[in-house]
Amino acid sequence: MNNVDVDIEAHAERYIDELVERMTIDEKIGQLILVNGAYGNISDELRHAVAGGRIGAVLNEVDRETINELQRIAIEESRLQIPLLIGRDVIHGFTTVFPVPLGQAASWNPDLVERCARVSAMEAASVGVNWTFAPMVDITRDPRWGRVAESLGEDPHLTSVLGVAMVRGFQGSSLADTGSIAACAKHFAGYGASESGRDYNTASIPETELRNVHLRPFKAAIDAGVASIMTSFSDLNGIPATANQFLLKRVLRDEWSFNGFVVSDWNSISELTVHGLTSNDKEAAFEAASAGVDMEMASNTYARFLAELVQEGKIPSERLDMMVANILRTKFRLGLFQNPFTDAKLFPLPANDDHLLMAHEAARQSIVLLKNDEQLLPLAKDRIRSLAVIGPLADDGYEQLGTWIFDGDPLYSQTPLRAIEKHLSDSVEIHFARGLETTRTRGREGFHEAIEAARKSDVVLLFLGEESILSGEAHCRADITLPGAQEELIAELGALGKPLVLVIMAGRPLALQNVVGRVNAVLMAWHPGTMAGPAITDILFGEVSPSGKLPVTFPRVVGQIPIYYSQKNTGRPPTRESMILIDDIPRGAKQVSIGNTSFHLDVENTPLYPFGFGLTYSNIEYANIQVNNSEVRVGETISVTAEVANKGDRHVEEIVQLYVRDLAGSLTRPVKELKDFKRVPLNPGETLTVAFELPTEALAFFNRYEMFAVEPGEFHVWIGGNSDTSLRAEFKVVEDTSK
Ligand code: BGC
Repeated sequence: MNNVDVDIEAHAERYIDELVERMTIDEKIGQLILVNGAYGNISDELRHAVAGGRIGAVLNEVDRETINELQRIAIEESRLQIPLLIGRDVIHGFTTVFPVPLGQAASWNPDLVERCARVSAMEAASVGVNWTFAPMVDITRDPRWGRVAESLGEDPHLTSVLGVAMVRGFQGSSLADTGSIAACAKHFAGYGASESGRDYNTASIPETELRNVHLRPFKAAIDAGVASIMTSFSDLNGIPATANQFLLKRVLRDEWSFNGFVVSDWNSISELTVHGLTSNDKEAAFEAASAGVDMEMASNTYARFLAELVQEGKIPSERLDMMVANILRTKFRLGLFQNPFTDAKLFPLPANDDHLLMAHEAARQSIVLLKNDEQLLPLAKDRIRSLAVIGPLADDGYEQLGTWIFDGDPLYSQTPLRAIEKHLSDSVEIHFARGLETTRTRGREGFHEAIEAARKSDVVLLFLGEESILSGEAHCRADITLPGAQEELIAELGALGKPLVLVIMAGRPLALQNVVGRVNAVLMAWHPGTMAGPAITDILFGEVSPSGKLPVTFPRVVGQIPIYYSQKNTGRPPTRESMILIDDIPRGAKQVSIGNTSFHLDVENTPLYPFGFGLTYSNIEYANIQVNNSEVRVGETISVTAEVANKGDRHVEEIVQLYVRDLAGSLTRPVKELKDFKRVPLNPGETLTVAFELPTEALAFFNRYEMFAVEPGEFHVWIGGNSDTSLRAEFKVVEDTSK
């Protein structure tokens, strides 16, 4: 903070203290209450509650007039004239919809992700929203969990970098700027580890793993100045996150000195009783307030019981004052005390050409090329006379948008079919067939038409995957293969022997083992948002080379889950030679344990596609990794370089990744950990030396002695195009004895 910031902060604290001093207990509690809006209607109840200072924040109200009127009531009719926070789930866009967060993560491009968040903030702020419930920085290693779509993937480093980018985009350089809205890092913490990938389920995470994996992106978001934190619905190690003093007191406030505010998730305070932690709403209010939840979303335990709890001395009045101050501080930082009203004239129109261009670029960079046999892609439009476009997702402006798009308008959507038609001249005949009514359809009624379309065509483009509603909150799947009769449709079309390109739109990684062998090329497009069509068309026809890389591992079959690249080695890591497959076991085989390793009998021990994987239209080769100082002291920086060559004839952007392994630690360490990455443009034939500077602090972890520390010893370092890279060097970290 510079001197001016320090002065402003000091002024804010004085202002807040004075305000809190003047508040009645009911007015204080009012600031802690977040209620659902009435979607363009202000009920008498809401009007009186705002005028009476009994509500501090409203969510799900997006009508500008209504929001301005609510703010007017708050500052003209309430005794202390305190403006309202207006919250909304602006998760991957507002009117303009960007790729789902998991898709944005596949860009590995923090600058792009920040710009998407900025546009989203601008559009949301233009109606009066001043607070978003994003970014979601839950680490998830279970693609069955529907909320993987909202996540930034499986890796703490990638999630931290991109989560920070989102915070910056939403909040801008000052929360008080036009178009800045307060961000909320969620769901604190451990939600992504819900057992069996079933939403709201229990999470059991040892403290070391919690700190080394799940908490890291939250810490990064706080260091970047995130205004608020939302608690998770889930039980963490026996204490639901919404009442978890270890998380909310010890880590968040004592260790990290967070001075924004904490909001519960929807009803998660009263659900403490359903969890079985408390017996009634009064106890639930006590547990949540004692742990450090400042604001209650949806349920009303604070409104009903907090005053009583304070009067009984169970919640100290200083605690209540602190909760109120945390919220007022955010309102102050947002500049709401100066002006809570929204003037449409200050904002560009939503979904304007610039915003659509941004969505187009984001979707392009999010697409991952998983397979491209015999370089079928890109398609040369002058060599195709007829094209089959098949599938329920080829021309559906709603389904391409993905989960959490309350304010997205499918009227702006440009679908693949329309974009392909626009791109191709009339000389190419397009044969469209849905094939299946929805992605879940089991009947084969549409197959005949699809097969006819394919028969008449030189190339077949197949748009399959999952509709929006199959991922997102509470939409988890136990089987993550393509739903409905999609696999059968692929088999039938594959049998025709035509070049077949599979474009998948989905909010999660799918188990594609049964289908990748039947198609010639596969593009993973996630749910790409408003501009899905033009972005996919650009990739299919080679306007740009694909550059996305997987932010999450793709399993072969669901039984491999959890499968993620930064696993532990085990005492018996599998080798190809030690693996036995079920079909090779002789009849009457006797049990032997010697020589056995850690594998499944019925599936290869590798993922279908590893974390970080993604092809492009050129051949990229890595060579000559060098560590410039192969022995460093703790506190110094390691310089690592490698050559990256574009051996093809197209311009590409390659995401160069750096991984590290700490060979021996006071706790066992993952076999690889992503520590840095760079997006590198490469012209045809160009070779570049890519250099990374890795400070030893990046090697620190929460260790056996409950300290974040760099432990001296031997390390391996890799540079490559995905987590399965083998281009390796070594370095050693030694104690700094000079201190
Ligand atoms: C979700 C949150 C969301 C909130 C408000 C809850 O159901 O878990 O992520 O921000 O609703 O809509």
